[in-house]
Amino acid sequence: MVNGSRVAIIGAGSVGASIAFALLLQKISSEILLVDIVAETVEGQVLDLSDANFISSTQVRSGSFQEAGQCDIVVITAGAKQKSGESRVELIERNYKILDYVIGSMKPLNPNIILLIVANPVDILTRIAQKLSGLPENQVFGSGTFLDSARLRLKLASVLGIAENAIHSYVLGEHGDSQIIAWSFAHVGGKRLLDFPEVQNLDKEAVAKEIASKAYKIIELKGATYFGIAGCVSTLVQCIVLNQKHVRPLSTYIKEYDCVFSMPVVLGSQGIEKVIDVSLSEEEKNKLRCSASTLKSICAKYI
Ligand code: 2OP
Repeated sequence: MVNGSRVAIIGAGSVGASIAFALLLQKISSEILLVDIVAETVEGQVLDLSDANFISSTQVRSGSFQEAGQCDIVVITAGAKQKSGESRVELIERNYKILDYVIGSMKPLNPNIILLIVANPVDILTRIAQKLSGLPENQVFGSGTFLDSARLRLKLASVLGIAENAIHSYVLGEHGDSQIIAWSFAHVGGKRLLDFPEVQNLDKEAVAKEIASKAYKIIELKGATYFGIAGCVSTLVQCIVLNQKHVRPLSTYIKEYDCVFSMPVVLGSQGIEKVIDVSLSEEEKNKLRCSASTLKSICAKYI
């Protein structure tokens, strides 16, 4: 992948447009294609984004599904969004059909293309996209619990009074209600997070519930979430384009659990390069096994 890669965003709603804006500010893509079945939405978003070209010369234009299939990276945000109180998994029936249409309309695909799935339920849709696209699994992955992990690190940064990027902690598993916080291997400067008095005094269950339910709270207040996910996706695209090989919790096939959900992985220009084999507590593993079982049973209805 080289600087100036061509990035397509499927879905020109709030999430897709926010991602386009975040990418425009980054100035690493030569061209951003915005694709949606509602032409007026795309035209409006493109015109609005073009007004920001005084701060970034990155061009955003409308494109077809076929053009998107020939880009370097495609971010798939198209899909129904959660209503207030609705879980991500409840979107599967509608969003499976949309994903099936999107991937079918993009074919034939650039064989080196990277598909970054954002639509929910992201873990199940990522597995389905791997099957529908026929691409190597490392080229098809989901944003997973990257956003949940960012929410957790920001929370802990406030508790500890330490910079967010110094806090190595992850939310793993489903980007959804069964996600877990991997307290067992979280650390700051090599010191276990659980050894910090401020963390020992935290109600860990309450923290886990706060992080897992943050999207529900935002959706109840403003109807959708989009700025947090846009920030996450724009840094993932940068990591791919610049081959930065950052470690991020992303949704990919995890052999140990025979399931697609989030574990720490190395991300570079070829997509996912390796899964980091983290040491989890038995309690954490059992929770992930339960989560994997639920996700697999839903997946089985579609592939
Ligand atoms: C989020 O967690 C809704 O999955 C989206 O913000």
